[in-house]
Amino acid sequence: MTTSAVELSLPRGPLSTFVLARLHGATVPRPSVVTSDALGDDDLQLALHLCYELHYGGLPGVPDETEWDIELLSFRAELERCVERDLFALVGPPVGADDVRSALPALVADDDGPSLSRWMLENGSIEQMTEFVLHRSAYQLKEADPHSWAIPRLPRAAKAGLVEIQAGEYGVERPEHVMHSELFAATMRELGLDDRPNAYLDELPGTTLATGNLASYFGLHRRWRGALVGHLSVFEMTSVEPMGRYSAALERMGASDAARRFYDVHVMADAVHERVAVDAMAGPLADEEPALAADILFGARAVLAVEGRFAETLLAAWSAGASSVRREVLVI
Ligand SMILES: [Fe+2]
Ligand SMILES: [Fe+2]
Repeated sequence: MTTSAVELSLPRGPLSTFVLARLHGATVPRPSVVTSDALGDDDLQLALHLCYELHYGGLPGVPDETEWDIELLSFRAELERCVERDLFALVGPPVGADDVRSALPALVADDDGPSLSRWMLENGSIEQMTEFVLHRSAYQLKEADPHSWAIPRLPRAAKAGLVEIQAGEYGVERPEHVMHSELFAATMRELGLDDRPNAYLDELPGTTLATGNLASYFGLHRRWRGALVGHLSVFEMTSVEPMGRYSAALERMGASDAARRFYDVHVMADAVHERVAVDAMAGPLADEEPALAADILFGARAVLAVEGRFAETLLAAWSAGASSVRREVLVI
């Protein structure tokens, strides 16, 4: 891993300009937040991503105390209100109290979003696979961390189920296992990419940043703990086949075993996690807190929709023979 610090990102508009200025300690007028598409807004999603990063590994050159900068927190809340408004418009607000043990698999089965993994296996080039890895880096380099926010917030049985999944994600359940975020970093290095957090932030469009920001949004708000559990359940339930296709695509492209390992490990691990997610986490949570059933299913619908839009954006670019990133990346 390269050890030098990554430069802070470039602003994309008034929202990220304001956040970047606050991160640098400057006092600037707060802009009004106006967007008709918060989930696809490049400027808003970058601003949100930067705010959220303060709660994870932090940002280079930004003091730890900035995590609780009252002005940034209040601005973040305004951005989040736009996200929530557009999520409700996209998938509807939390309603109903279906049996989550049957409703979650039904939601996944009914999802008619495009399959990025199938496209990659059948049509993708190594350049497109490299772009895909780049898009995923905003989330996968901190894989599992957003879901860990729920651990202290869940009742007993659901907490145990979540911790069982997280033990696998962090590679601590077996001595020979490796943290999944570290496996992803290895994939990046094998593809000639810089594995430092946020090294490619400027290349990632709003629709990509929205995928990671959705997990952080649910994760940082106790009131969305049910949605976070639904989000993680869908992640686990939609992993095995796509991960297998990405590994096969990389094999066809001549990539190394080390580049494929992240995907191969998920094929095995998530065959277990998908059962734990429903039977030992989401199901028990709905049993213990029946009022959260609607939130669990809302989180599931939200992640399917946001991931679907992410996939559509990449496929539209590639089908037109274009790059899917905001500017051409110089592969190191
Ligand atoms: Fe994982
Ligand atoms: Fe998993």
